[in-house]
Amino acid sequence: MEPVIVARDVYKVFVAQGDRDRRRAFLALQDVSLAIGAGRFVSFVGPSGCGKSTLLNMVAGLVRPTEGEIRYKGTPVAGVNTDVGYITQDDNLLPWRTLRENVELALEFRGVPRTTRRELSTKYIRMVGLTGFDHHYPHELSGGMRKRVSLIRTLIYDPDIILMDEPFGPLDAQTRVILQDELLKLWEGTGKTVVFVTHDLVEAIALSDEIALFSRAPGKIKHVYEVPLERPRDVFRIHAHPNFPAFYDRLWRDLKEEIVAVELGVG
Ligand SMILES: Nc1ncnc2c1ncn2[C@@H]1O[C@H](COP(=O)(O)OP(=O)(O)OP(=O)(O)O)[C@@H](O)[C@H]1O
Ligand SMILES: [Mg+2]
Repeated sequence: MEPVIVARDVYKVFVAQGDRDRRRAFLALQDVSLAIGAGRFVSFVGPSGCGKSTLLNMVAGLVRPTEGEIRYKGTPVAGVNTDVGYITQDDNLLPWRTLRENVELALEFRGVPRTTRRELSTKYIRMVGLTGFDHHYPHELSGGMRKRVSLIRTLIYDPDIILMDEPFGPLDAQTRVILQDELLKLWEGTGKTVVFVTHDLVEAIALSDEIALFSRAPGKIKHVYEVPLERPRDVFRIHAHPNFPAFYDRLWRDLKEEIVAVELGVG
């Protein structure tokens, strides 16, 4: 099947204001090529500042490559890609709207009638166990609840691809694993393509079909790994899978080279 997302020879140069009004060019991505098949769950891992969010922003059409191109379903991305659902690290819930009103926001923008909105939001709120909290405002919800809301308010409008940038970053370890499990259950069988950024290798292994490891800045893709664990996965016992230890060690060894190089200023 033709890949749904293709990055071909992508370079990104950011120009920032330097000392004494000199402009300084900064190479964020270098010669990145990557293909993501439809329906795949792909994670990006790599040192801080290696360009993971920049590449996501390019797929969403928010940032343009300096050279090379990003193709979505065979067409270069030019302008905001409306087939994409983007879940960022901040949940960005609107504080003046209730949980249900936040969940229904995108449907409202799309002109979906009120009764259909209600039916859909009821269904999604139930799927993540938030029934009864419909009238709560974001400040009345826990961090994990807010993450659930940001997840379902994206899934509800049925985007073809979902970009998630460290969505579970600030949560405690238990809530993270519970949300990973919920995410897999919501995703499995939908056929949606997911691109997921994380610093947590265990999370990347538990969730993904493939993991793209980025080198230190300027980011290149160092290697793409096929995760050797079948589905469905038990995220609560992922460490106990016979293929887990060797795969984790290999990933960590390859990532560590990049992190050590950043700390020593090598390269
Ligand atoms: N709009 C911008 N203007 C200037 N520089 C930028 C801009 N966006 C990103 N950068 C720089 O590009 C590099 C890559 O940034 P990016 O946010 O993509 O990294 P990242 O891999 O997502 O890092 P982290 O893991 O810390 O989130 C960084 O050095 C960053 O400072
Ligand atoms: Mg980032």
